[in-house]
Amino acid sequence: MYTLKVLEVKKETKDAVSVAFDVSYELYDAFNYKPGQFLTLQFNLKGQQVRRSYSLCSSPVLEEPLQIGVKRVKNGLVSNHINDNLKAGDVVEVLPPDGRFFADIKKENYKTYYLFAAGSGITPILSILKTVLLTEERSYVYIIFGNRNQESIMFQKELEELKQSFKDRLILIHTLSRPINAWSDLWKTSSSYNYKKGRIDSSMVKWFINEYPPYAQNAEYYICGPGSMISNTKRALKNIDVPDSRIFTESFGGTIKGSNIKGVVNAKLIAKINNTQIELTVPEGKTILRTLIDKGLNPPFSCEGGVCSTCVCKLKQGKVHMKNNLSLDESEVEKGYILSCQSIPLTQLVEVEYSK
Ligand SMILES: Cc1cc2nc3c(=O)[nH]c(=O)nc-3n(C[C@H](O)[C@H](O)[C@H](O)COP(=O)(O)OP(=O)(O)OC[C@H]3O[C@@H](n4cnc5c(N)ncnc54)[C@H](O)[C@@H]3O)c2cc1C
Ligand code: FES
Repeated sequence: MYTLKVLEVKKETKDAVSVAFDVSYELYDAFNYKPGQFLTLQFNLKGQQVRRSYSLCSSPVLEEPLQIGVKRVKNGLVSNHINDNLKAGDVVEVLPPDGRFFADIKKENYKTYYLFAAGSGITPILSILKTVLLTEERSYVYIIFGNRNQESIMFQKELEELKQSFKDRLILIHTLSRPINAWSDLWKTSSSYNYKKGRIDSSMVKWFINEYPPYAQNAEYYICGPGSMISNTKRALKNIDVPDSRIFTESFGGTIKGSNIKGVVNAKLIAKINNTQIELTVPEGKTILRTLIDKGLNPPFSCEGGVCSTCVCKLKQGKVHMKNNLSLDESEVEKGYILSCQSIPLTQLVEVEYSK
């Protein structure tokens, strides 16, 4: 964990803020990041230590401070704390950038990037968008951004400015599921096709690709938004034969599926962290990660929601039930990798090893 000073907290919409951090010269290397990656913030709130991940919306190629955008989640502990209380001058505990959702952006690339974002899912997409436009002079970016209405569009001004600056290489389409009247009237009468009505679903994706076919044939597809938007977009892309290897997705988690599985009572856990072996007892229903944290140990973790995969470890012995898995693919699970933040022992003995 490092401490970073908050430079600015800016209201982006009625229920979202952006937060800029000051990174001192000594921390430059540690906080180097790829466009699309996230930071993990740690707070002590209501008597517990909590961590949440927030994607960076700044670009590593611009001389701008590290920035995240945080949208309120109903009854959410950290998102509301950040929106209500965080201010310039505060210091926050932060883990360095991480994450597997990023674009490999190089000056010599000649690609078409299709970017799909909904709501706060714009954050990593904005970072990728800016970095591609500024780095790859021959690449094209087509972005479709879904929101509820015109007042819930995060980074609207910045997006419009980019659209003006990169007219020849950037197409930006807003789509609103419930536009506010005056604007929807404008939308109805407007001959411009830059505003659509509806959610990003299969038919919208099909329309988007047909309307804006790839300029450079080497195309990549980046998706970030709620689970249903990600799966619909992915399905629509597969229907037009886009290979899996060109589709990249980031989920922010969301409601955790209820699970009645409580596992075994007082399972024995053998865990290897940083080459140290520890033996513990896991209370019924508790995850491996929480058991370790509550005993004062320091296993790697971030979202605690089955999304970021920071807590991944290898299961060497025994069986577990993973409540939620939004990050490991089938082949990783087959190789024995588990998300410790989601894993409850199903056998009396469980042995795991962390490699980070
Ligand atoms: C890799 C990654 C990147 C992320 N980037 C961003 C970002 O750039 N901007 C941003 O605003 N958020 C982002 N998130 C989501 C963020 O980490 C938190 O999950 C979110 O702010 C809610 O935390 P909370 O403490 O307010 O809610 P909690 O107190 O954890 O949850 C309260 C309730 O809301 C539900 N819930 C939790 N998370 C979500 C969610 N994302 N959507 C809908 N319901 C939810 C829970 O199931 C629970 O019922 C990201 C998450 C991940 C894993
Ligand atoms: S801590 Fe994010 S998946 Fe476990």
